[in-house]
Order: sequence, then C-alpha cells, then structure tokens
Amino acid sequence: MAENYDYDVLVIGAGPGGYVAAIRAAQLGLKTACVESRETLGGTCLNVGCIPSKALLHGSELFEEAEGGHFATWGITAKPKLDLTKMMAEKTKAVGELTGGIEFLFKKNKVTWIKGHAAFEDAHTVDVGGEKVTAKDIIIATGSSVTPLPGVEVDNDKKLIVDSTGALELEEVPEHLVVIGGGVIGLELGSVWRRLGAKVTVVEFLDKLLPGMDDDVRKEAGKIFKKQGMELMLGHKVTGASTRGKTVTLTVEKAAGGDEQKIKASHVLVSIGRRPNTDGLALDKIGIETNKRGQIEIDHDFRTKVDGVWAIGDCVPGPMLAHKAEDEGIACAENVAGQTGIINHDVIPGVVYTMPEFADVGMTEAEAKEAGHTVKVGKFPMMANSRAKANRDTDGFVKVVADADTDRVLGVHIVASLAGTMIAQAAQAMEFGATSEDIAYTCHAHPTHAEALKEAAMAVQGKPIHM
Ligand code: FAD
Ligand code: NAI
Repeated sequence: MAENYDYDVLVIGAGPGGYVAAIRAAQLGLKTACVESRETLGGTCLNVGCIPSKALLHGSELFEEAEGGHFATWGITAKPKLDLTKMMAEKTKAVGELTGGIEFLFKKNKVTWIKGHAAFEDAHTVDVGGEKVTAKDIIIATGSSVTPLPGVEVDNDKKLIVDSTGALELEEVPEHLVVIGGGVIGLELGSVWRRLGAKVTVVEFLDKLLPGMDDDVRKEAGKIFKKQGMELMLGHKVTGASTRGKTVTLTVEKAAGGDEQKIKASHVLVSIGRRPNTDGLALDKIGIETNKRGQIEIDHDFRTKVDGVWAIGDCVPGPMLAHKAEDEGIACAENVAGQTGIINHDVIPGVVYTMPEFADVGMTEAEAKEAGHTVKVGKFPMMANSRAKANRDTDGFVKVVADADTDRVLGVHIVASLAGTMIAQAAQAMEFGATSEDIAYTCHAHPTHAEALKEAAMAVQGKPIHM
C-alpha cells in the first residue's frame, strides 16, 4: 500500500461507475474504499434508474399483453386485474436483491464501504461527515441527477409533479399523465403508465422524439408511440405549472414561442435530461472547474487535470449510460493500477426499453455524412423477418450504415421487440472492425430476429434475400 495514506484508492460514489471501479481496483490488489451518500449501494441505476424502470416496464408489459395485446391475438382471453401495490413491491424486491448483491461483492472483494457524503480537502483527502479519509488516488464517480425545469417544481412527496424517481413510486395509475420531454425517460416511464391505464401526453420541445438517435428511428418512434395511444405534442414546451387540489394546469407554448394553451393533468413527469453531480464536492479546493455542461473534463485515461484525481461515468462527458460508466470504471481502475485500461467511446450501444425497443450503436446516417464518409445504407423491415412475423410482432426495422469505400460498418440502428439484445451483436462486430459483408456472411440461426441484422447488412450490397 502507498505509504501515509489510508487507502490506495478511494472511489466517490457507488453507482455502476464507482462500484465497478472499486471492485476492479481491489481485484488488482489495491486497498480500496468507496464513499456513498445513499443508504444503499448501486447508485442511480440500481436504486432509482435502470433496474426499477425495467422492472415496471416488464410488469406493465405483461399487463398490457394480457389485457388485449398479444393474448387476444393468440386467442387467449384473460381479464387481468392490476394490484399496483404488489407490482411496486416486486420492483422494490428486485432493487433490494441487486443493491444487496453489490454489498456482498464489496465484502467478497474487500472493498471498504464508507457511508456519507465526500467533499475534497485536498487532492488526496476527502471529508466524510467530519472524518478525514486519505488515498493515493481518488476516482470521482458521483453520477448525475434530474435537470429541473424552472416554473414546474418537482415534489416527489406530493406525487403530482414528479421526476423519474417519483414516477417509479406513484401509488395510483394517473388519469392523465403529462410527460415533459420525449426522451428516454419520458417514453419508458410514459409507456409504463399508459400500459397500466393512464392517458399520456408527451410534450417535446423538438420536432421529433428521442434526440440523438438516427432520423429514421426518430420518425418511426413518433408513429409507434402515437399508434400505441400516446398523445404527442412535438415542437412544444411547457412554460409553467399551477396546482389546485389534485389537478395540475400546465402552460404550453410552441417551441418558438406563442400559441399559449393550458393542459390539465392529474400527474406530471418532468424528464428533460440529467446533469452531473459535482456541487458539494468542493472541487474548487483542488482547482478543478467544471465545463459549461457541469461535467468534469478528463483525458483519454480518465485523469482530471489534478494529479491522482480521476473521474468517470455520468459526471464526465459522453452518454449518460450505466454500461458506459461500468466500462469506464474498469478501465480507470486498471489505469490507476498502472495497467492500460481503454474503452472505445465510438462503440457504446444505447437502448430504449419500450415495446418495441429502440437501439443503436455507432454513428447515425447524418453523423457519418457529417464526419465526411460517403455512406451506403441497408435497411430491412421486421415485417419481412420470419420470427417477428411468426410472433406477430412486426414493428420496426434494422438499418446498417456503412462506409461506401471500405464497407466498414459505421452504425447500426434497430427498432424491434428484441432490439436491445440484437444490438450487442452489432457492437461486437463494430468492435472487431466488421464490414457489412462480414455480418452478411455470418451464419445466423433461423428463425431469429437477429436474421434481420444479417439481411440489413446484405441490403447494404443491394442483395437481401427476403425483401
Ligand atoms: P450514479 O449511478 O448516479 O451513481 C453516483 C452515486 O454517487 C450516487 O449513488 C450518489 O448518491 C453518489 N454520490 C454523489 N455525490 C456524492 C458525494 N459527494 N459523496 C458520496 N456519494 C456521492 N442507463 C442505462 O444504461 N440503461 C438504462 O436502462 C437506464 N435506465 C435509467 C432509468 C432512469 C429512470 C434513470 C434516471 C437513469 C437510467 N439510466 C440508464 C442511466 C444510468 O442510471 C446512469 O447512466 C448511471 O447510473 C450512471 O452511473 P454513475 O456511476 O456515473 O452514477
Ligand atoms: P433526454 O435527454 O433523453 O430527453 C430529454 C428530452 O426533453 C429531450 O428530447 C429534450 O428535447 C426535451 N426537452 C428539454 N427541455 C424541454 C422543455 N422545456 N419542454 C419540452 N421538452 C423539453 O433526457 P431524459 O429522458 O431525462 O433522460 C436522462 C438521461 O438518462 C439520458 O441521457 C439517458 O442517457 C439516461 N437514461 C437512459 C435510459 C436507457 O438507457 N434506457 C433510460 C432512462 C434514462
């Protein structure tokens, strides 16, 4: 162990970035501690993010299928009755099992869990509730929290105007849920409550849902969510809210301003993005300033500008995704230990876990063109995929974007019930530098949804078989 320090490595924050970094550092023989201000380990993802949202997406999907979705298609009549308390309890159980699992992993790997809020004293010392803890290296993994919307104050206790955390804990199905922001959270949690019986209106500032995704995917998302019964107010913004009794009245305007109108809602979800958690770390004491998005700038190795201080996950630039944070955690810990930890930020998949799912990896068609590539695109509809057809779940398509000169795959975009699983193959192929031909000539099991990726890759050459 490094002399004169309590620990070799101290990680601040026990989310997917921090807890993974701590475990890897300990695996590499470093004496490691992790400070967490929450009661349980696992960060946003396990406590109030990925896991509870996916649990409710699963439960609500079963309900919708039974209520008239695919059950009816397949001649099965069911009259499901919702016990929301039980559904919520099952979600809480899943969260408890997983956060408890991290506690077990900390013990197994001899990571010390320090409970409390950490703030820097100097580059090798943090204060946790009056105690000074020192380490040779400190990794900041403090994550992110909800971006507030001025004029629309979130109060998760009252459960009328909520953020994602509140929307995971509602005690009744909203009569009319207005979702502010048609991004990932709005569509996932909006879907949960729509499936359980709420009328859902999505107010989105831009002219399409899911910013950042490929334009074809965004257009498809608009059609699909509309077909599912969501009311979409694209190109609109919410400028204020007032509450009377149990009704919230929202003031909505066109994005460019003007055309003010009022919408009444029983519940409102504010989901307009997240911002890094850096306040309260006393970064000024070590001379770190955040950039204009509030993020901590790092170099390729996750080093901040201060020697011995590193940063990963949602509090640094890049997509705010759990798997990106985890991979950065591993790579950063390896670098701290003197190894060479690398992650390829060009190949980070993203998935929206609605039904169908929306998944992508690499560049959108527009980004590829902007980056100077001449592109070739192959598209294959799920309607022509035999397994999707057999399952009667034919929404969506696969789109492969390849470089016209080298045939190298630059991006893959999938809308399909299993898109989140299918995208892993695309990510791995891209990581190995695959061409569209490599994917097209890889034998895929039949009948599987994954064959649609093979066909889309064949379509890049203009020769799909089933279309
Ligand atoms: P976090 O998970 O935010 O963890 C940071 C931890 O640091 C927190 O527990 C915090 O309490 C602690 N902390 C902060 N400051 C201090 C301090 N000074 N001292 C001590 N502790 C501190 N991503 C996906 O990839 N897939 C999904 O399906 C997905 N679903 C999501 C659903 C929702 C509703 C939300 C909100 C997010 C979702 N995300 C998802 C995003 C994902 O949760 C984040 O990208 C991920 O948690 C980031 O990990 P992190 O370790 O950087 O930070
Ligand atoms: P987001 O950035 O995905 O979407 C926010 C949306 O709100 C955007 O479409 C934006 O145009 C819109 N918006 C902003 N201001 C507005 C206003 N005043 N009125 C109307 N619309 C407005 O952010 P979101 O959904 O809050 O999610 C935050 C982060 O959490 C995302 O970056 C995502 O990476 C992560 N996340 C990931 C999930 C996954 O991987 N499945 C699930 C949930 C969250």
